[in-house]
Formats: sequence, C-alpha cells, structure tokens
Amino acid sequence: MDENRIVAPELLWEDTEETVIRPRFFQEYTGQEQVKANIEVFVKAALGRGEALDHVLLYGPPGLGKTTLATIIANELNVNIRITSGPAIARPGDLAAIITDLQERDILFIDEIHRLNRTVEEVLYPAMEDFCIDIVTGKGPGAKSLRLPLPPFTMIGATTRAGMLAAPLRDRFGVICRLEYYSEDELLTIIRRSAKIFDVKLDAGGAEEISRRSRGTPRIANRLLRRLRDFAEVKGDGVITREIARIGLQMLGVDERGLDLVDRKVMLAILEKYDGGPVGLDNIAASISESVDTIEDVCEPYLMQIGFLQRTPRGRVATPAAWEYFAVASRAEKRAGDAENGQGRLFGI
Ligand SMILES: Nc1ncnc2c1ncn2[C@@H]1O[C@H](COP(=O)(O)OP(=O)(O)OP(=O)(O)O)[C@@H](O)[C@H]1O
Ligand SMILES: [Mg+2]
Repeated sequence: MDENRIVAPELLWEDTEETVIRPRFFQEYTGQEQVKANIEVFVKAALGRGEALDHVLLYGPPGLGKTTLATIIANELNVNIRITSGPAIARPGDLAAIITDLQERDILFIDEIHRLNRTVEEVLYPAMEDFCIDIVTGKGPGAKSLRLPLPPFTMIGATTRAGMLAAPLRDRFGVICRLEYYSEDELLTIIRRSAKIFDVKLDAGGAEEISRRSRGTPRIANRLLRRLRDFAEVKGDGVITREIARIGLQMLGVDERGLDLVDRKVMLAILEKYDGGPVGLDNIAASISESVDTIEDVCEPYLMQIGFLQRTPRGRVATPAAWEYFAVASRAEKRAGDAENGQGRLFGI
C-alpha cells in the first residue's frame, strides 16, 4: 500500500498523536451504540461479580476503533492490558511467556488475531477455555507435559477479517462484536473533540466537509483534520473553512465521497476494463497493481457500504450508482451512442 495514501485507514507513522486523542472511557467513545451498550452491560456484570470479563472478539475495517475499545474496556474494568499481535507471536513459547505473566482479570489484547499461526492457536485454546496451559519440558522420549493453571483473564482479539479466523478459535469468544462505519454526525462529534484537543480552529462548513469525506473512519477524520490545519495556516488565516477544506482535500486527492486514488482505480478498473463486472478480485488487483489484501480489507468494505460495489458468487459487480458517479458509459451505451452518431452523419450528408 502507498505509504502516503492520505485516506489509508491503517496506522501511519504520523499518527503518533493518536494516543493523545484516543478516547479512554466509554463516555468519550462516540458511536457504535449497540456494541457499546452490550459491552457496557458485560463490563458492569463482570465488575459486580468480581470475575474476569468473557473473551471478546472485535472485528471490522481498520481505523474504526477496535484497539481503542479494548483499552477502554481495560480502563473501565480497572485492570492491566497487555497488547500484542498475531504476527508478533511466532512460537507457542512466546505466547506462554505472555500468558503466564498475566494477573487475575487482566486483559490480553491480540491484534490481527487472524494471523496467529496454528501451533500458537493450539496453546490458546485451553488457555481461553480452561485457563490452563500445557508446557512441555525436556526433549525426546523423556519429554514431559505439564499442565499449569492460569489466573482467569480476558482475551480481546481484533481482526479486520473475521472470516479468516479458525472456527474453534472464533467459538471460544463469548462476545463477538462487529464495528460499523461511522455516520457523518458521529464523525462530526469526533472531529470537534479532536479539534479541541489539538487546538485546531474549524468552522461548521469545514467540519462538515471533513466528516463527509472521511470514509466513515475516525482515524481518517483525525488525519484529515491535521492535514487541513496545515492548509489553513499556509493558505488561509488558520481556520479550516469549507473553502479551505475543499482546496486541501482536492490537493490531497480525496474526492467528494472520500474516495482516494486507490478506491477510484478499483472502481474504474471494474467499470472500464471489465464493463462493470462480474470480475474476480485477483483480476482487479493485477490490473491496478495493488495487493489483494488492500483491496479486500480497505477498499471493498467502504465501496460496498456506499453502494458502489456488490459481491456476487461470480465476482465483483459495479452498481448503477457507481456508473453514475464515475460517469463512465457502459459498452452497450457506447455502441448505442456510436450507432446514433453514425446515423447522424449518414443523414447529414
Ligand atoms: N468511537 C470513537 N470515538 C472517538 N474516536 C475514535 C473512536 N474510534 C476510533 N477513534 C479514533 O480513531 C483512532 C483509530 O482507532 P483504533 O486505533 O482504535 O482503530 P482500530 O480499529 O484498532 O484500527 P486497526 O484495524 O488499524 O488496528 C483512535 O486513535 C481514536 O482517536
Ligand atoms: Mg488497532
């Protein structure tokens, strides 16, 4: 993925300020009302009983607040959170070291949990289900397996791909929550809060423009806010107005719907090269030299959300809304148009 992609929902190095604006408690966490309401109940119940919260799986596109929610749960429960990720745990021993270090009711947060390897997963199953871990000591015929009890802990897994999770792993989560894209109103609230924290001046028009073009994603909204602050300081009088936002977003390559170059390339490939589809994901990826993962995790969920793209058993298909937005004529329309023009010429002679 292009490192400089402004609407990249993934974390970029310049998002280090993210920790400053990351909500710490439910009260500061805007939107995701249903997920929040459910989790709040489970948290209260766990606190009331003095027990560890059930294991939680959070899934959804990048930048929607999975990590944030995990840290909020830890804060609300007043317990420690240990943060790691699927790719970081290479061997079962790595996981054993982390897990045996947890205290009662602590949270173990594993990001990108779909990327855990199978041998590590095997260690996780008894740990999650029975709070114990099997440790093998020695080698060869003298090897002994030792079952160690663990203090009850809460595992929070996050993934952009729930479908890639092994069924036995998914089944061990008591609470499974899907995070949704945010509405423009919710993004407005998030932007206003961030602007206050960063001391960025923006008017109603500017805030509206950002919220409409942030692909329903708080991380992108916050990033656009920071980029547009630069535009406002250099090209204006320091206030992000609608005008400044428009100029800035155009220069950043973000269009009216918040789509960036890669999103547009995906849609145009489907529309122009494949006449609207159906076309397979691999073909799209190859024709625009993007990775299948980026298209599937980042572009597609949003393009489907705004009704530009549909997944069918035969491949991806562009919707009438997409044809209209990109103002591309389908082959059939072009043929009809050519025939008309041809006729026109004929009669004109
Ligand atoms: N509900 C929310 N209210 C306010 N700000 C939010 C909310 N959700 C996310 N944010 C902001 O967006 C940023 C990105 O959120 P977060 O890192 O939790 O996303 P994520 O889902 O974990 O992404 P990834 O899949 O890349 O790990 C956070 O730093 C936070 O400032
Ligand atoms: Mg995260």
